[in-house]
Amino acid sequence: MKRLDDFRLRFGKREIVPLVIGGMGVDISTAELALEAARLGGIGHISDAMIKTVSDRRFDTQYVKDKLKLYKYNVANPDKSAVQFDLGRLAEATRMHVATTMAAKRGDGLIFINCMEKLTMGAPRETLRTRLTTALDAGIDGITLAAGLHLGSFALIEDHPRFRDAKLGIIVSSLRALQLFLRKSARTNRLPDFVVIEGPLAGGHLGFGLDWAQYDLATIVAEIRTWLAAEKLDIPLIPAGGIFTGSDAVAFMEAGAAAVQVATRFTVVRECGLPAKVQQEYFKATERDIEVNTISPTGYPMRMLRNSPAIGSGIRPNCEAYGYLLDANGNCTYVAAYNREVAAHPGVRKVAVRDKTCLCTHMRNFDLWTCGHLTYKLKDTTVRHADGSYEILSAEHVFHDYQFSTDNKIQLPTV
Ligand SMILES: Cc1cc2nc3c(=O)[nH]c(=O)nc-3n(C[C@H](O)[C@H](O)[C@H](O)COP(=O)(O)O)c2cc1C
Repeated sequence: MKRLDDFRLRFGKREIVPLVIGGMGVDISTAELALEAARLGGIGHISDAMIKTVSDRRFDTQYVKDKLKLYKYNVANPDKSAVQFDLGRLAEATRMHVATTMAAKRGDGLIFINCMEKLTMGAPRETLRTRLTTALDAGIDGITLAAGLHLGSFALIEDHPRFRDAKLGIIVSSLRALQLFLRKSARTNRLPDFVVIEGPLAGGHLGFGLDWAQYDLATIVAEIRTWLAAEKLDIPLIPAGGIFTGSDAVAFMEAGAAAVQVATRFTVVRECGLPAKVQQEYFKATERDIEVNTISPTGYPMRMLRNSPAIGSGIRPNCEAYGYLLDANGNCTYVAAYNREVAAHPGVRKVAVRDKTCLCTHMRNFDLWTCGHLTYKLKDTTVRHADGSYEILSAEHVFHDYQFSTDNKIQLPTV
């Protein structure tokens, strides 16, 4: 019976343990978590979602306060088109987060940054270019393009000196999305170094509609593999979504995957950014407590715990401080939904908004509990204390469980 450790992901001469901890914004996949993955020989992700906020938390900077001060005059204005990101400050925050993380890296693994195209930040091209370019400048090992088709993302950085040496990959959920990306990027004469294939059981935003349950990760992986072989394209494939045990991972490796990407099992480790109280909510969840809904203003369905405080909350949009989801015209569907409710309920101090949520504020405050479908199994990965609480794990424990376990077994922690 094989173990995940019997396989290696090969990047040139480098051999990596084929386990990738996926990006989890906002600062759920912390630098500490990514550094552990790299120390243990695998791949970890930091995320560039709301990076100025993350920088304030990590380095005591004041980016959010300063931006809010600059736009304070606009707070009560339903029109948010005035709010812009200062690209110099965005670059500064990115540089600090990435360079500090890379300087702390130990071990043979790699650290990538997860870059979401849907964080349009009032100026989609310019802000994305700044984020990608600065991450490369600051020495990131690789970039995973996420939440979007990224049809122009390679072109944005094709003149960067590291364009051909950094590991660049994309997340897709269908063969069609991959074909589109390859077609649009062909001009840059560079294939992605890896493709993460994210299935319908993943956490965060989904590349499926509300009919997600009709899709199956193994089928999509097989379809993409067959097409790449027919096209004579050799790109490492990294399935993700619902890979819960070492044996699940081995099954994908035996079907030709180069590595697997996982996240949910790492939401309940000490190095993860979720507050301990929220981690207990993840442990407690049953299958019925998990839903896929359309409250994210990105337009993508998102999976989360039903009892997330973000659901139904009608807080005032916080774009002057954050504003990461404002499109090129300064619109966000939450802002529109909030303005609609305020207009419909004159004189009401606190409206409820059911169809959308202020993703920036709630992700920043860890009030939107996004999770993978198999979160309800997390309680089986640890021990329960006499007071009913669950033991938080270490990243090393979970990583090694994936790496060395067989027979679908899960190693419980010793306490
Ligand atoms: C809490 C959480 C947050 C996530 N946030 C992001 C994100 O910001 N960007 C992204 O590309 N994927 C995100 N994901 C998806 C993961 O990176 C990963 O691909 C997927 O969840 C793997 O499936 P699993 O959770 O069943 O192991 C998130 C997943 C979780 C559980």
